[in-house]
Amino acid sequence: MKAFVDFYTKEGISPVAQDIEDLEKHFHRRHALYRHVGIVPGLLSGRSILEFGPGSGHNSIVTAAMHPARYVLVDANPVGLEHTRDLLQRFAGSGSIDISVVQSFIEDFETSERFDLVLCEGVLPTQEAPTELLSQIARFVRSGGMILITCIDAASYLAEQLRRFAAALATHEEASTEEKLAILVPLLGPHLDTIEGMGRSHEDWILDNVIQPFQGRALMGLDEAIDALHPDFSVHGTSPSFLVDRRWYKRITGPASDFNAVANQMYLAELHNFIDARTEHSVRKRERNRSLLAACNEAYQGIVNHSEARSSAAMARVMKALEVLRSELADLDPLTVRSFDDFLRVVARLQAGERDVDWGNFASWFGQGQQYLSLVRDRPLGIPESS
Ligand SMILES: C[S@@+](CC[C@H](N)C(=O)[O-])C[C@H]1O[C@@H](n2cnc3c(N)ncnc32)[C@H](O)[C@@H]1O
Repeated sequence: MKAFVDFYTKEGISPVAQDIEDLEKHFHRRHALYRHVGIVPGLLSGRSILEFGPGSGHNSIVTAAMHPARYVLVDANPVGLEHTRDLLQRFAGSGSIDISVVQSFIEDFETSERFDLVLCEGVLPTQEAPTELLSQIARFVRSGGMILITCIDAASYLAEQLRRFAAALATHEEASTEEKLAILVPLLGPHLDTIEGMGRSHEDWILDNVIQPFQGRALMGLDEAIDALHPDFSVHGTSPSFLVDRRWYKRITGPASDFNAVANQMYLAELHNFIDARTEHSVRKRERNRSLLAACNEAYQGIVNHSEARSSAAMARVMKALEVLRSELADLDPLTVRSFDDFLRVVARLQAGERDVDWGNFASWFGQGQQYLSLVRDRPLGIPESS
């Protein structure tokens, strides 16, 4: 089983297109991301970039516009690669960049080249073994170079996974993808309209997040990604940007220069802010967030199992997980709590066979989804010897 690729190639799709009609807006968004994670566009000029899983290439045209000397793109989905080639031809065709578009599984890709920047967005979480794949791609980062990846944990993905559960209640397990879309687009589409800056079609988003089977696949939180690359790589930045390091730089020597430990602590203290993108809170005790994450993980596992095999035992597991979650969420924002209660009411209606449901506050509840994380492959300090 190959995550994403099996589903995409079976359906003959690449459901990751972004609305780039307003190119200026698209470029602004990508530049905002690069600013958050610490990529300086001017410094990419003349450099080498390797991108895993470019999808349909919408982000790749922004990367190409930074004038790297070499740009290699690797993906296993032929449909997405065709779109990527077309877009690069349209927007980077006349440039002097040495571009290679390679059809390959990431696992099989091999080269002796090492790159200044390795990109892998929207690929690692929900693979069977995300941190193993991360180690595979990190090999291609040259000493002092950067890797940019995305992470998703069960807290940041909770609202989406609750929709997966509702979708399972509203559709038949054996229904075709078209039949599921015919029910789910009108049911969930209005939720997606509440997201400011949403650049994907309703169909694509639902295919990718709700219909695509996740059985046997694992998420990957920021801490797991950081630990997988420690000590060879050090955290550089995140988007959303939440790393705060108030120490005087002159005190950062020896063991104090473990930036990964600082990032991991901040991540756990901030985790509750990933649950509901409409709300914002100050940091809180890491113990509380550990327990919140455990409840979200149990809900995620239960929902994924139930959506693949809708037995009464699977249903009971989800309902128990939702009960635990309800108490974990109780001291978060009242809007989140109201949204969760509205969701529980919808579950009861869908179970009763109703389809015309009032989602209430839940309709506009989305979490932070994926977080971007940049890390630099540490290299020796390069202290010169005195003559
Ligand atoms: C969700 S899309 C992300 C597209 C784009 N990077 C973005 O962020 O919008 C994931 C892409 O990774 C590719 N992919 C996932 N797993 C892969 C693997 N093991 N080998 C090669 N390509 C893979 C899929 O074919 C797809 O194009």
